[in-house]
Amino acid sequence: MSDTEVIAVDADRPDPEAVERAAGILRRGGLVAIPTETVYGLGADALDESAVAKIFEAKDRPPTNPLIVHVESVDRARRLAAGWPDAAGRLADAFWPGPLTLVVRRAAVVPDAVCAGLETVAIRMPSHPVARALIEAADTPLAAPSANRHTELSPTTADHVLSGLDGRIDAVVDAGPTRVGVESTLVSVVEDPAEILRPGMIGFDQLRDVVDVRPFRSRQVDDSTPRPSPGMSKRHYSPSAPLRLVDGEAFERLLVEEDERRGFVGVKRRSPADDEARVEWLSDDPERYARGLYAALHRLDDAGVVEIVVERPPDERRWEAVRDRLRRATTPRTP
Ligand code: TXA
Ligand code: MG
Repeated sequence: MSDTEVIAVDADRPDPEAVERAAGILRRGGLVAIPTETVYGLGADALDESAVAKIFEAKDRPPTNPLIVHVESVDRARRLAAGWPDAAGRLADAFWPGPLTLVVRRAAVVPDAVCAGLETVAIRMPSHPVARALIEAADTPLAAPSANRHTELSPTTADHVLSGLDGRIDAVVDAGPTRVGVESTLVSVVEDPAEILRPGMIGFDQLRDVVDVRPFRSRQVDDSTPRPSPGMSKRHYSPSAPLRLVDGEAFERLLVEEDERRGFVGVKRRSPADDEARVEWLSDDPERYARGLYAALHRLDDAGVVEIVVERPPDERRWEAVRDRLRRATTPRTP
């Protein structure tokens, strides 16, 4: 593939011409990285089997890992599903458009490759104005995994997308940094009660207000079988430098060692003296922390550190999505 085109748009009021340019590529079966409120996704026409195959190729993604299909309406979601359980209706009412993905039984129109052969499909209606405009203009649901190479960090800017996929995809639509910063909450409503397969910024308490739901249980599987639950590669969402999670005291101890090869991610700035390139201070509010996390890890990777020391965030439900991503990122890379 030749150069990847960068199509810049305003995040809130996307220029229709730019949207049409990207939508045209999608309609012709091409690959376009698109901004969503969570992370950038690598979009293709979900109903076009050969377009979907290109996603797996560009990402080096194992074919056993199914994709999320992005839609512009509940009506469209229902047409991709075989049955729409009461829980799906309630969750969609409460949280769509937004950072929630629903796993339901799939209809026959959904290509096998999208679902990795499973009898279910993951569907999400994003809230990002650019994502919505693109889905509407393309006039088809868009399959879109996070727009990173397999096992690498999810992108929250167009630059992050290009760092992994430049030359491997047709275009990236650049609408600036994403707002949520970590991937959507993934909930299966195939059985009752519903089950959280991947925690996200829509948390257990919010979901429980709407449906009967089981809390998230962390599990991991390898890449050889279609996974019943998402994002469970042992290593997923990882920077290339090894990541070490430590408690606050150990964090401070390592910080004062001033070893230049180490990068740091701390919860809330303490000493102004520690304000230097290899220290990333994130908020003690989980939403702000999530928004900044991947960009911080990307910057430390770019700085060429050999290890990233991360201060463990509080063991509280509000931090569940962040703690999940950090846990996955600490798993050593297997050759
Ligand atoms: O926020 C997000 O969800 C972003 C944006 C682009 O929408 N997308 C995203 O996609 O994170 P991806 O492919 O990186 O992660 C989707 C996860 C995968 O781990 C996959 O295993 C899981 O969803 N998944 C997809 N279809 C599934 C299904 N039918 N059953 C269970 N898990 C499924
Ligand atoms: Mg991903």
